Amino acid sequence: MFNLVLFGPPGSGKGTQSEKLIEKYGLIHLSTGDLLRKEMKAGTPLGNEAKSLIEKGQLVPDEVVVGMISSALDANPEAKGFLFDGFPRTIAQAEALDKLLTLKKTAIHAVLFLMVNEEELINRLVGRAKTSGRLDDADPEIQRKRQEVYKNETLPVAGYYQNQDKVSRVEGEGTIDEIFDRICSHINPLLEA
Ligand code: AP5
Repeated sequence: MFNLVLFGPPGSGKGTQSEKLIEKYGLIHLSTGDLLRKEMKAGTPLGNEAKSLIEKGQLVPDEVVVGMISSALDANPEAKGFLFDGFPRTIAQAEALDKLLTLKKTAIHAVLFLMVNEEELINRLVGRAKTSGRLDDADPEIQRKRQEVYKNETLPVAGYYQNQDKVSRVEGEGTIDEIFDRICSHINPLLEA
């Protein structure tokens, strides 16, 4: 198994690059944001609980997202590997993921950290707001809140993986293909090793 975390602030291009990476490397894409939006659309109790937090730019409780990831791992026993996008977002989630993967006799092999400056992030999310229909894109105040939550709660996760020597920083500005090539140049040597 080969498992990757695509890490970075809201708007850094995690979803965009994930689509290309899963195709190239045959990984299963696990985006907690996508999973939560699916629950919201279906109007499940979990979706309704998540909606009130997401529309304020806040994180959904750790146990909720860890439960979703645990189910998704169990549902894909034959996977070649997983690409985690938007997860883990807290140290508690990172620790829980390590435990889940250890039970499956595997681990995170690399964390690709997309580096994008804040002005560019806001510009991208303002652009996406016109078409995405996402509740958390619509309001500049919520976008600012999401960046603040990222800095306070999610950025420490990079340190967690840095301590495991798994983080590769990738310049996240430029064309989508340029960034994809940069990410692949970090992944390919790991697969050849
Ligand atoms: P989630 O869906 O994970 O959103 P996010 O992390 O805020 O990330 P985004 O989807 O906004 O951005 P992205 O990095 O994927 O960039 P994208 O490729 O779309 O989470 C949403 C919410 O759910 C959270 O706020 C939280 O409430 C909850 N949640 C989710 N996971 C959770 C967890 N683990 N724990 C607790 N709560 C959780 O690109 C952005 C835009 O830029 C697009 O328009 C794209 O077309 C454009 N773009 C991409 N690349 C480029 C480029 N190179 N140049 C120019 N434009 C580009």
